[in-house]
Amino acid sequence: MSDNRPIGIFDSGLGGLTVLKAVQELLPNESLVYFGDSGRTPYGTKSPETVLKYTFQDINFLLEHDVKMIVIACNTASACSLDAVLKQYTLPIVEVVGPGSRAAVRTSNTGRIGVIGTPATVASGVYERAIQAAAARLTPDQPATYLGKACPLFVPLVEEGWWDREVTALTVREYMKPLQEADVDTVVLGCTHYPLLQSAIQKEMGEGVTLVNSALEVAREVQAVLTERNIATGSDSTGSVSFFTSDSVEKFSELGSVFLGHPLENVTKIDIEAR
Ligand code: DGL
Repeated sequence: MSDNRPIGIFDSGLGGLTVLKAVQELLPNESLVYFGDSGRTPYGTKSPETVLKYTFQDINFLLEHDVKMIVIACNTASACSLDAVLKQYTLPIVEVVGPGSRAAVRTSNTGRIGVIGTPATVASGVYERAIQAAAARLTPDQPATYLGKACPLFVPLVEEGWWDREVTALTVREYMKPLQEADVDTVVLGCTHYPLLQSAIQKEMGEGVTLVNSALEVAREVQAVLTERNIATGSDSTGSVSFFTSDSVEKFSELGSVFLGHPLENVTKIDIEAR
C-alpha cells in the first residue's frame, strides 16, 4: 500500500526548514507542505498556553491540505503541546524531542547529556523526561545525567545570518560554560535554529563532544513511521513542496533561501489567526 498525500511540517518560523531539508534529502519523492508561523515567532519566549493555542491552529491549517502525517519541527511546540496534540488527532504525528533524546542516549558513552534550547523548551522539562525514559529503556546499566541550558540569544543570531561572527563565538562560549563544567559528552541541539551554529558550538565544545542534530533524527523517524504504517508515497518522481507563512512572503523567501541554500518557490501568505 502507498499514500501519495503530502506530509505537513510546521514551525514557529523559518527554523523548521532545517527539518524540511533533512526530510527532503532522505525522502525526495515525498511531497511536503510547510507552514512557518513567522508572524507570531518566536514561540520560545511565550507561555505554554499560548504555544499550545498556536500549535493547534498550525495543525488545523495543515489538515486543510489533506496531509497524511504531521511533523512538529519546532522544539518549543513539541515541548509545550505534544501530550494535548496526541490526544486530539488520530493521524501520525512526529515531533522532535523523542528522536533527539533517543539518539543522545544511544550516542553518549558516559551518560552525561546536555540539551540546549529556547527558554520555554528547557523550562518545560520535556527533554529531561524523554532522556531519562530513553536511558531506562536503552541503557539500563548507565543512568543518564541531564543538564539543560537555555540559549535565548541563539535564535536572533541565526536569523541575522551571524553564524560565524565574533559575537556569536563569544555568545556560544558563555552558554557552553555550564555544559563544559558538567563534562557532558553529548549535546542535543534542541532548537530548530541551532544546526546552523553547529560548527561554532563544536569548536567551543571540542571534538570529544558529540552534537545531536535533531533534524536528521526527525527525518529518520518520519521514514520509520511511513514504513511502519505503509503510507510512504508510491511515486518515484521528486515530490512537490509548498510553503506557507503568516508574515511577509518576501521576508520568508529571502531568509528561507539562506536556511535551505537555494531560492524558495511556491510561498503563500495565510491568516493563521482565522484557523
Ligand atoms: N522553532 C523554535 C524551536 O525549535 C525556535 C524559534 C522560536 O523560539 O520560535 O524551539
